[in-house]
Amino acid sequence: MLEELPLVLDRDAADPLSVQVADGLREAATSGVLRADDRLPSSRALAQQLGVSRTVVAAAYDQLHAEGWLIGKPGSGTYLTTAPAATPARPAPVAGPGEAAELLDLFPGAPCIEALDQSAWRRAWRAAADYSAVARKDRAGEPEYRDAVVEHLLRHRGLQAGGDTMVLSTAGTSSAVSEFANAALRPGDVVAMEDPGYQRAMGAFLAAGISVHPAPCDADGLRVDLIPDGVQAVYCTPAHQFPLGARMPAGRRVELVEFARRTGIPIIEDDYDGELRYDTAPLPLLAAMAPDVVIHLGTTSKILSPALGVGWLVAAPAVVNSVLIYRERTGSGPSPAGQHVFTELARHGDLARHLRRLRRTLPPRRELLVSALRRRGLEVLGDDAGSHVVVPLPSAAAEDRAVAEGRAHGVALDGLARHHLAAQDDPYPRMPFSPNRSHLPPALGRHTFGIILGYAALPMADLSTAVPIAADCLARVAAAAHAGT
Ligand SMILES: Cc1ncc(COP(=O)(O)O)c(C=O)c1O
Repeated sequence: MLEELPLVLDRDAADPLSVQVADGLREAATSGVLRADDRLPSSRALAQQLGVSRTVVAAAYDQLHAEGWLIGKPGSGTYLTTAPAATPARPAPVAGPGEAAELLDLFPGAPCIEALDQSAWRRAWRAAADYSAVARKDRAGEPEYRDAVVEHLLRHRGLQAGGDTMVLSTAGTSSAVSEFANAALRPGDVVAMEDPGYQRAMGAFLAAGISVHPAPCDADGLRVDLIPDGVQAVYCTPAHQFPLGARMPAGRRVELVEFARRTGIPIIEDDYDGELRYDTAPLPLLAAMAPDVVIHLGTTSKILSPALGVGWLVAAPAVVNSVLIYRERTGSGPSPAGQHVFTELARHGDLARHLRRLRRTLPPRRELLVSALRRRGLEVLGDDAGSHVVVPLPSAAAEDRAVAEGRAHGVALDGLARHHLAAQDDPYPRMPFSPNRSHLPPALGRHTFGIILGYAALPMADLSTAVPIAADCLARVAAAAHAGT
C-alpha cells in the first residue's frame, strides 16, 4: 500500500471534492503511480490525510467501485483492479453481401493481454532502455535473464535448473527447435513428432533438413509404444499436448523417459503453457525426471506476450555447447531487449503478480466456454490446463462445416485439420509419409477431427459474445453429423 497517495484537492474548484478524489485516483492508476493489486487506504485514513470528511472519500470509492477500478476483499480492504475493460460487449459482427466482417477470433495461441498490467509492462520496457547499448551480446543470453529464468522454473515449474544442466536464453520455442535441429542433428536425421502437433516446430525441423515422422497421440498424449523406429529425437508437449490438450500422466512420463534412456534418443519437452493448470496436482517435468536426456524448452509467449520474443532452453552441457557453437558460427542468438524486459518484470515482482492475475483471470473464461459446450452435450478435451480446449467432431466434413458456420455467424474457429503433420503445404520435399491416416489404430482416429477453441486472447466482453455463438454452431454441426444429414 502506498504511504501517501499523491492527491491534491482544490477547494475553490467547481467539481465537488468527491469527484476530485475519484479523478485523482483514476489518474494515479492510469499513470502507473497506483498499480493493479495495490491496496488503498481505508476511507477513514484517506479522509484524514486529505483533511476532508469520510463521506467524501466513501463517495469517491463507491464511484470507482461502480466503474470497475476497485474491488473490496472482505476482511482485507479495497484494492485496485486492472483498468476496467473499455470495450462494452458488442453484438456479433454480421457481414453484408460481399463484405468481410471482422470475426471474433477463437483461434488458440495468443496470450491474455487483458490480464497484463499495462503500467508494469511499460515500466519494464522503460527500465530495459537503461541497459548499455554497447555491451557485447552474450551468446548464452543475458546473465540476469538466465538467473530470472532459473528462479521462474524453480517457483512455477518445480525444476531445479543449473546443476547438471545449463540454461540458455532463446528467441522462443520455434527458434530454439531450429537451433537444436541445426546444431545437434544432421540433415537427413529423423525426428518423431506428436501428430497432430505444433506446425512451427515441424517447420523448423524441415527447414533444417530433418525429416519428421508422426507419432500418434491418445487421451494421455504421445503414445510411446508408437514412436516410429529409427528416429534421432522425439518432440512432445507433455504439459498440455498441442493441440489436443492431454496432460501426460506420470506413468506415461516414466515410460517416455525409460524409452529415452534405453535408446539414447533425446526428448524435446516443449513446455509452452505449463504454468497454466486448473484444479489438478502438478506433474513432474520430463526435464526434472531425466535432465540427462531431455531438452526442455519454455517461452514467454503464452504467459506474457510473443512481443518479448524470448524463451529458454535447459539441457545437458553437450547440447548447450553445440547450440553455442552454432550461434558463434552463424552470428545468431536472441536479442537482449526482450530478456531485459523479462528480467525487470521478474525483479520487481510484476511477473509473479501477473501469473497470480492470470490464474484468476483464466478460470472464469474457461468455465464460461466449457460449461457452454458441455451444456449443449458436446465433448470437451484438454480443459484442465493451458488456455484452449478441443471439441472432437466425427468427420472432416463436420469440421469444415463448423468452421464455415462459425464464419457465417461472426466467429473464427480453428479446425484440427491444419495441425496434422501431413496437412502442411509442404515447401520442403522431405515429408516421408502420406496424408493417408488409415495406419492409425481406430481409437486414435477419434481425435482426428474437431475444433480448437482458445479462450485467453479475446477481451472478456467479446468472449462472452463469441462463446454462445461458437457453442451453438458446434452443437448444430454435431447433431447434423450424428443424424447423418
Ligand atoms: C505448441 C507450442 N509451442 C510453443 C509455442 C510458442 O512458440 P514461440 O515461443 O516460438 O512463440 C506455441 C505458440 O503458439 C505453441 O503452440
